[in-house]
Amino acid sequence: MYQELAWHWTVLLISIVIITFALAAVGSRKKSDYGPIQSRGYRIRSWFFIALLVLGIPILFGTLVFTSLPYASATAPAAKEYQIVHAVGHQWRWELDNIRLQANQPVEFRVTSGDVNHGFGIYDSSLRLLTQIQAMPGYTNVMRYTFQTPGTYKVMCLEYCGLAHHGMLAELTVTE
Ligand code: CUA
Repeated sequence: MYQELAWHWTVLLISIVIITFALAAVGSRKKSDYGPIQSRGYRIRSWFFIALLVLGIPILFGTLVFTSLPYASATAPAAKEYQIVHAVGHQWRWELDNIRLQANQPVEFRVTSGDVNHGFGIYDSSLRLLTQIQAMPGYTNVMRYTFQTPGTYKVMCLEYCGLAHHGMLAELTVTE
């Protein structure tokens, strides 16, 4: 509703700008009576500026305070709705604090490394890569993913990290 209101105001203000430009363009073609038209143009411009201030400032504050526009899309679901998984990569294993997850409920993976760079990749049962993120020492990278279907998913390392890189496997069990 607020979004619609903001949109209507935007359209209105853009229309005013277009009309102002159109008037100025029409006026500039007439060579005679240039002076009065110019002063009328200035008058329109100053009225337009005042109108912008009078309308724009309340709209700006109103949308920011009451609807958090234009940042509505940044309002992610509250943290408690996520299933949280802390993942730490080590040479050569994954340390996961939660391996039983629910389908159709978003999961937030917080991924880091205890030693060197690893790649945290999640595969489905037919070994198709679904999503991945870097596991880096000193950083926690956040990756969000929602499993659609229950089943067993594999975590594999995607970055060569030494001798037993290929042995860095883990399993996630996703239930209804
Ligand atoms: Cu860890 Cu490759």
